[in-house]
Amino acid sequence: MEQNSLIRTEAYVNGQWVKAGSGKTFAVTNPATGKVIASVTDMDRADTRRAIDAAHAAWPAYRDTTAKERASLMRTWFNLMLEHKEELARLMTMECGKVLQESLGEVDYGASFIEWFAEEAKRTYGDVIPSYSRDRRLVVIKQSVGVAAAITPWNFPLAMITRKVGPALAAGSTVVVKPPSETPLTALAIAYLAEKAGFPPGVYNTITSSNSSDIGKELCENTKVRKLSFTGSTPVGKILMEQSAPTLKKLSLELGGNAPFIVFEDADIEAAVKGAILSKFRNNGQTCVCVNRVLVQDQVYDEFVEKFSEAVAALKVGNGLEKDVQVGPLINEKGLEKVKEHVEDAIAKGARVTEGGKPLDGLFYKPTVLADANPGMLISREEVFGPVAPVFRFSTEEEAIQLANDTAYGLASYFYSKDVARCWRVAEALEYGMVGINEGMISTEVAPFGGMKESGFGREGSKYGMDYFMEIKYMCFGGIK
Ligand code: SIN
Repeated sequence: MEQNSLIRTEAYVNGQWVKAGSGKTFAVTNPATGKVIASVTDMDRADTRRAIDAAHAAWPAYRDTTAKERASLMRTWFNLMLEHKEELARLMTMECGKVLQESLGEVDYGASFIEWFAEEAKRTYGDVIPSYSRDRRLVVIKQSVGVAAAITPWNFPLAMITRKVGPALAAGSTVVVKPPSETPLTALAIAYLAEKAGFPPGVYNTITSSNSSDIGKELCENTKVRKLSFTGSTPVGKILMEQSAPTLKKLSLELGGNAPFIVFEDADIEAAVKGAILSKFRNNGQTCVCVNRVLVQDQVYDEFVEKFSEAVAALKVGNGLEKDVQVGPLINEKGLEKVKEHVEDAIAKGARVTEGGKPLDGLFYKPTVLADANPGMLISREEVFGPVAPVFRFSTEEEAIQLANDTAYGLASYFYSKDVARCWRVAEALEYGMVGINEGMISTEVAPFGGMKESGFGREGSKYGMDYFMEIKYMCFGGIK
């Protein structure tokens, strides 16, 4: 492991760096090399309860700080992340395989949620409601929800934490973060920077474990946790929702996607190819908003497939720490197997490989384009979460919308067209929480991120993000003469 001042291998609970009660640890592996890069403390339910107790004990004092005081702590944390940008990015690339350029981008993206919500903290306005009676006055205030838990994924080791804890900390909640076992090091590194920023003990806690289901169960069932925000797969989201039912825990679930990318005959084809590359191959196809299905109109189908395949062939695959590499490895063997299964299934059902179509060494897979894709293929229904782009054909706008909406998911969608009326029609008809129109990269801290249908519920980032970490309280002042 190279020198990195941010490496921490113990969990951060109540302002202390602590080992698991059992003394156990688990290994963190670099997916690009297969080498173990660290051993991290492996906590269980009892350890998790201790972290929740600490967050619960710290809540009243933190809740009572002013928004300006919280904003100041958050601003210091934000600055520290940017000061340590290079080290955070290298750590991220080593544990999740993301190429360095993207990891650097993720530090900016992740830190931006802390900056944004530090500002929003001061704007959690309530209301004065015109009264229904002469002797009463009606006021609405917003208050912190209480202890908030965040269960986060490996594909954005930093940004998915900050997108959740940003609004929580701004609102006056204390937090317990549970990062995935694949990428605990970035999570611990930012916990270390939170400590440096001066958050009081118990306000910010991070627990690491190889047993996600046990920790998830504790976070769902513990009555001291009032809010749980999860980013991950739809099946796991459903389990967490079921486990949260007995305590009626407030939930935000940012789950899987099956993003369509529609290219109409009037699109700027060069721009569409660029947008598809950006969206499909970001983090090697391992984001919830990556294109999963490319739908192209008859008239431009062959031209698009040819240009897109050429652009895909030019992508450089390798260890993300090496210069100019654009596509890294899959996160693990399971991820690689899924990609192989989807490609084999598509070929067996008539897909034509115009680029790639085969695994490389280790966890690497050659970026792939599959022409003549059809809705009977596995890849049409399930998120491939890898560097494979199936290209479907359609004839009319109605058919494109029907194909695009023919999925249980509703997270991100994209389309390219130069016709303004069509842009409005299609954008309104797509059953998705987010629509990119002539744009393949739409994530930003200033806009609401979230989905419909089985992609979950809740919105992160933007002016809407705070609401999910606050309670609305109505106060009726009577006896006013
Ligand atoms: C995700 O894959 O869940 C997040 C993607 C993003 O924030 O752009």
